[in-house]
Amino acid sequence: MIIGAVKEKNKFENRVAISPDEAKNYVKSGHQVLIEKSAGLASGFTDSSYKEAGASVTSAKEILKKSQILVKIQLTSNDEIKEMQTNSILISQVNVNSSADLIKSLNAKKISLFALERIPRITRAQNMDILSSQANLAGYHAVIDAAAEFNRVLPMFMTAAGKINPANVLVVGAGVAGLQAIATAKRLGSIVYATDVRVASKEQVESLGGKFVMVEDKESQDAETSGGYAKEMSAEYQKKQEALLAETLKKIDIVICTAQIPGRKAPLIIKKYMLDNMSSGSVIVDLAVETGGNCEFSQVGKIVNKNGVKIVGHANVPGRVASNASSLFSKNISNFLALMNFESKKSLYDKNDEIIKATLVCANGKILIK
Ligand code: NAI
Repeated sequence: MIIGAVKEKNKFENRVAISPDEAKNYVKSGHQVLIEKSAGLASGFTDSSYKEAGASVTSAKEILKKSQILVKIQLTSNDEIKEMQTNSILISQVNVNSSADLIKSLNAKKISLFALERIPRITRAQNMDILSSQANLAGYHAVIDAAAEFNRVLPMFMTAAGKINPANVLVVGAGVAGLQAIATAKRLGSIVYATDVRVASKEQVESLGGKFVMVEDKESQDAETSGGYAKEMSAEYQKKQEALLAETLKKIDIVICTAQIPGRKAPLIIKKYMLDNMSSGSVIVDLAVETGGNCEFSQVGKIVNKNGVKIVGHANVPGRVASNASSLFSKNISNFLALMNFESKKSLYDKNDEIIKATLVCANGKILIK
């Protein structure tokens, strides 16, 4: 097969969907790899490293025209779709809710579109799970970003000139990114608190040395979906959580926000009046900024200063460690491609496979997921 990747066009997107290592693996498996000139540069991958891996470095136009399988980080544009091959395969993050027009255009060309963010969180699919691989890096880097903006150190210092107390860090949302943030903040010597609406996360937080802070009531006993995600909480629960966090924030120096609800706006957790409980010099890093933010003042791509509290809203945090992020993302894609039966003359993929079913958005002129 001809597998291609072009340079990502979105603002803030530094990643690339094929790393030189994966290009080498594809070539070794008998595929031809096409990569756009400079596509890997922002991830630290040179054109010559792709050539050494056996890939052809060429123009976007040629890649879109020739690729039987196009792999991407972010969904394509109508300009790219016009150039793409009819009946080809596109594998990417999709965000089905906000991409109806693009899906329609892809479907009109009978392109099979797979949405990587819909890969089910089952054991067999763990090595394809882009949400986990990227959230892990984001959780780590959020703490590094916070430390860089903070005007104090994180660990305790005992010096001849006096003692420095460790920083108190609160992690909001103890999922993949949150747990990595807890581990990173602990490694840097801070005292870590964490909160979530899922009771199951308590044990994980504590096993990393974090102190768990949570409103435990009847509703929180049932706050997890069968897929392991959080449910949207009632207004009554949110009020109780708000009171608990407002009180907790009085002793907190750094907040790492990671709370998300799949397919919905992120819950607003840190409100304006709660910031008054934080000291000047405190830092909030909002990893949920691109889905609406957990903090009232977060802005995508900006650092906002509210009465001395810095609210950091970097976009695409995994892209801030683009080399690792691209390597893991492209490995996730190649593991996903292992589901394809390249030898088959009839059908490249098994429509009844649980992972294919969950991710196949459109195929053969039919939209399957709306
Ligand atoms: P996510 O990115 O959707 O959410 C992040 C965290 O925010 C979650 O822990 C969620 O419970 C929490 N949250 C949502 N609303 C909140 C609120 N109002 N206040 C406080 N916290 C709130 O979730 P993520 O990180 O992608 O993972 C969710 C679950 O999936 C976890 O249980 C994780 O262990 C599980 N998982 C399972 C995998 C598998 O292969 N079996 C792989 C990866 C994750």
